[in-house]
Amino acid sequence: MENRRFVLASRPDGLPRPENFRLESGPVPTPADGQILVRNVYLGVDPGLRPALADAHTGDEVDDEFEPIPLGELVGYFDAGIVERSRHPGFAPGDWVTGMLKWQEYGVLDGAAARKLPPELPPSTGLGVLGIPGLSAYFGLLELGAAQKGETVLVTSAAGTVGSIAGQIAALRGCRVLGTAGTDEKCRRLREEFGFAAAVNYRTEKNLAAAIRLAAPEGVDVLFDNVGTRMVSDILPLMRPFGRIVACGQIADYGVPPEQLPGLRNTNRFITHRLTLRGLFVHDFAESFPRALAELSEWAGAGLLRCHEDIETGFERLPAAFAQLFTGENAGRKLVKIDERDRDGH
Ligand SMILES: NC(=O)c1ccc[n+]([C@@H]2O[C@H](COP(=O)([O-])OP(=O)(O)OC[C@H]3O[C@@H](n4cnc5c(N)ncnc54)[C@H](OP(=O)(O)O)[C@@H]3O)[C@@H](O)[C@H]2O)c1
Repeated sequence: MENRRFVLASRPDGLPRPENFRLESGPVPTPADGQILVRNVYLGVDPGLRPALADAHTGDEVDDEFEPIPLGELVGYFDAGIVERSRHPGFAPGDWVTGMLKWQEYGVLDGAAARKLPPELPPSTGLGVLGIPGLSAYFGLLELGAAQKGETVLVTSAAGTVGSIAGQIAALRGCRVLGTAGTDEKCRRLREEFGFAAAVNYRTEKNLAAAIRLAAPEGVDVLFDNVGTRMVSDILPLMRPFGRIVACGQIADYGVPPEQLPGLRNTNRFITHRLTLRGLFVHDFAESFPRALAELSEWAGAGLLRCHEDIETGFERLPAAFAQLFTGENAGRKLVKIDERDRDGH
């Protein structure tokens, strides 16, 4: 049995392209004691992979996760699949699990690095509401953003996976939620399906701050940012006293050479309005994941928290699906599904 996998062929120059990845094939790995062999079914396509494709160190001494991926190495992030063989007492063949299996058909995980998915929810939920995106939204909004009932929360890239979940959690907490997104259809979905009070199309709106001010004349208490410095600079003058900015992602800045980054403007507002900006690294909250997952599962089970999924079928689609994230062609959680006909090239 063959195991197809994507490795890094070249480092992207600006936007990633499918040619940056190479399809290879090798043997299916064998689990050691304490490990499980997982057959991947839903593969995660995540913008957070982009910084690791660059050759510059971005996180330096802070965490290995920010180290660049060497050329020729397996790429990818978290996936969801079915246990094929188990040498760990906590898992049995047939269990659905999620873990960092990366872009390959079969992968081995240590038992401690795998998490069983609840049978009562679709397994793809394990990569959305019950995955790293849901956890990032939860801890970013509630711990770093400390969003309180009655406050105004603004989410950028709000129709994306993390953004849409953060907005829904804010609405559940009794906040007034605004969002930015790149198409009118995404803005419509935010208002009509995800409970946002207002949504602004940042691509067509000439004056973003003025459009947001119209929707929130009282200003913004929590800015949950997934986009980066240019948008944060535009929104800074709208921040209310003691406002909190959560730097979750910088998708507009990934791959931009440091000398071309726009830099932060309007920073005097930090002093005059006692603002804070905190960077989120979701794995810092790993010890509290079980508590968050219990609450997220409850909301998802009750139909209060959803994630729009954008699923393609076919393992070979992974590189093209990844490129779509940076042009906004994806609509929600981008996943690639491997079905049985696709597996092993059939
Ligand atoms: N800090 C952490 O621990 C952590 C954990 C997970 C994810 N993240 C970060 O969170 C962010 C969101 O992740 P996600 O999984 O929600 O992504 P996603 O669902 O894949 O959404 C990506 C969306 O970003 C928007 N976008 C792309 N390029 C843009 C640009 N130049 N300017 C403005 N918007 C742009 C597009 O929507 P539009 O149509 O609206 O443009 C695109 O659909 C990413 O930056 C990711 O790296 C951080």
